[in-house]
Amino acid sequence: MKAVITGISGQDGYFLSKFLLSKGYEVHGVLRRNSSMNQGTLGLLPNNIKKHIIIHYGDITDVNFLSNLLQKEKPEELYHLAAQSFVGYSFQNALSTYDANIGGTLNVCNAVKDSSPDTRMYFAATSELFGQPKETPQNEMTPFFPRSPYAVSKLASIWTVRTYREAYKLFMSNGILFNHESEVRGPEFVTRKISQSVARIYHGSKEPVVLGNLSAVKDWGYARDYVEGMWMMLQQDCPDDFVLGTGESHTVREFAQAAFKEIGMDLEWTGSGINEVGLSEGMTRVKVSREFYRPLESDNYRADYSKAKKTLRWEPKTSFRDLVKIMVKNDIEIMG
Ligand code: GDD
Repeated sequence: MKAVITGISGQDGYFLSKFLLSKGYEVHGVLRRNSSMNQGTLGLLPNNIKKHIIIHYGDITDVNFLSNLLQKEKPEELYHLAAQSFVGYSFQNALSTYDANIGGTLNVCNAVKDSSPDTRMYFAATSELFGQPKETPQNEMTPFFPRSPYAVSKLASIWTVRTYREAYKLFMSNGILFNHESEVRGPEFVTRKISQSVARIYHGSKEPVVLGNLSAVKDWGYARDYVEGMWMMLQQDCPDDFVLGTGESHTVREFAQAAFKEIGMDLEWTGSGINEVGLSEGMTRVKVSREFYRPLESDNYRADYSKAKKTLRWEPKTSFRDLVKIMVKNDIEIMG
């Protein structure tokens, strides 16, 4: 079996390529060339794994590149993970987010349709589509209400995929994944920002972690569990859309509390809004700054993943507590 992964240098690409290789797949990855030759999470893979991945330098905004790649490789599966994935950034850079996310997804769909229509495609949609959810928990039937340029781009993309699936009878499935984190998460995302700060404090730093909205409620799982769900979606008889999440909600404050607990610090919270702080033995460990607030927030997230559980037999394997532990422990080791 052969699979192509766009966005192989991101967190999910890291876990998915490892997973597919362990299943005996021939794994091809699309990588954008940059002058520093930074390979993202690919650089974190051990050499004995990385050497098996066949890299194609190119960009999802280039439909000719994608068509040539699919024409030549004719993979059984394609995982379209590449995107501008940082919600905060999308408020400042809406157009480039639309170009990469909507244009890129349209290009991938066209390349599949025209050059390799038997390829099964997975598209990385997102819980951000729910924005300000109309119901809790959220499932495949919950109405979408996007609250950021990023979410708007994913709304156009998921409908592009659905349209191509129906119009051209292609096997294209959407994964509506809730937040999924790990030890290779980018440092701009709140969970890694917290785990890295906690590790620095463990090693002696006195700098508090400065965050935005501590009350945002998310459903956080472990990315390694989720890539298996992506693969399961492509093993079904028919293409479809599936929610993956944990069914548990936590605030950013709770994530920080749990992370500090890993190094034996019990935070006490005092003040509110922009003046809230998290203290441990009189020292400020968490502060709030307007800088990290978004113009609009999307939260109150809790996944109802019962369809995935029933149809795919998928379930998250890693608890919130264990996820926090994995991330903090890893950052303590890296910085040690
Ligand atoms: N990044 C960040 N930095 N977020 C903060 C901070 C901070 O200092 N303080 C509070 N937050 C809040 C954000 O406002 C948001 O509500 C929550 O923490 C999570 O933010 P992120 O970690 O940046 O992730 P996200 O939820 O916006 O988006 C991620 O998950 C989506 C769902 O799977 C990304 O991976 C998206 O690409 C993905 O679609």
